[in-house]
Amino acid sequence: MSSFENLRVVDNFYQTSLFFPMPTVIISTLCEDGTTSLGPYSLVQPYYVAGKDYYAMLLCCRNSSNTAQNILRNGKCALNFIDDKPSTFKEAVKLSWPGDKPEEKMPKCNFRLETSLLQEENPDDIRPMVLSDAIEVIECTWMRELDGADTDLPGELNGYEGPYHDFNGITSKFGAHFILRVDKILMKKKYRDAIINGVRAQDFPPLPVDYGYRDSKNFWFHRKRRMRAELLQMRKASLESVRYAADRVDDKIKFTDEALMTVLAVPRVFLPLVLKGCVAWAQENGVELITAEHMQIINDKRAKEKKKK
Ligand SMILES: Cc1cc2nc3c(=O)[nH]c(=O)nc-3n(C[C@H](O)[C@H](O)[C@H](O)COP(=O)(O)O)c2cc1C
Repeated sequence: MSSFENLRVVDNFYQTSLFFPMPTVIISTLCEDGTTSLGPYSLVQPYYVAGKDYYAMLLCCRNSSNTAQNILRNGKCALNFIDDKPSTFKEAVKLSWPGDKPEEKMPKCNFRLETSLLQEENPDDIRPMVLSDAIEVIECTWMRELDGADTDLPGELNGYEGPYHDFNGITSKFGAHFILRVDKILMKKKYRDAIINGVRAQDFPPLPVDYGYRDSKNFWFHRKRRMRAELLQMRKASLESVRYAADRVDDKIKFTDEALMTVLAVPRVFLPLVLKGCVAWAQENGVELITAEHMQIINDKRAKEKKKK
């Protein structure tokens, strides 16, 4: 017999039928007159994380919102991650009344704004401003060509008629999804240093965890709690099993035992890819026997490429 109770799955199930922890971001977008508008959002998540030509986030929102309309118009937005102070969350909720126009809510908004870093680097690249108070910001461009959404236009505030897209652009009468290319990540120095130098429990930023709008009255959230680290038990393959895989990657290019010792901790599912990468490097560099020193060069090259991205 199940140890669970059943719950009806209804509209907005993530906040009506579940306890679903979410981030809180303030999305800045560009209005027609060139000013920046802000709206709070939680249904944002990484979408393309690897293996594509670019990285992307996904936003799910009401298609009549200022945010959706501005993205449909000019495709630019910034996801500003705010801190977990109750006064900051209060300021976010202030920006959430459906139907409030930017000219009504922005004069009362206390978040400080500054020029986008992308626009600072290239003044022709006009972007919405970003929140000076944010901990981190993702500057984005909507990929309107995906799912044929480039014909979706702003201007309809009372519900769009179908046909609807499956996952990008106008996806239902009142809904929209936006696949947002990650153009730049901005971060306050303290937290950037933590990522670059190796993060410790005390280095994590105070980001709120949001549980959405409930009881037709309140937005619920909690502040950051103490961070805990859970060590992944490394499973090391045996040299023989890695040798077995390595000998089958290429008929000419081989690895020394010392070279293979450097990849013993690579999980089995990634091993063929890693070994193929090493062989490709060896082919490019006229190497027939890959040594531990070569593995170091390949690793450094990979690290450099990752940094460049
Ligand atoms: C913390 C918080 C999270 C929210 N998350 C979402 C969301 O993910 N999607 C959405 O459509 N509305 C969300 N809302 C409601 C929007 O903020 C609301 O529709 C608002 O009018 C949007 O502002 P805008 O029209 O200026 O874009 C959220 C509101 C708050 C306070």
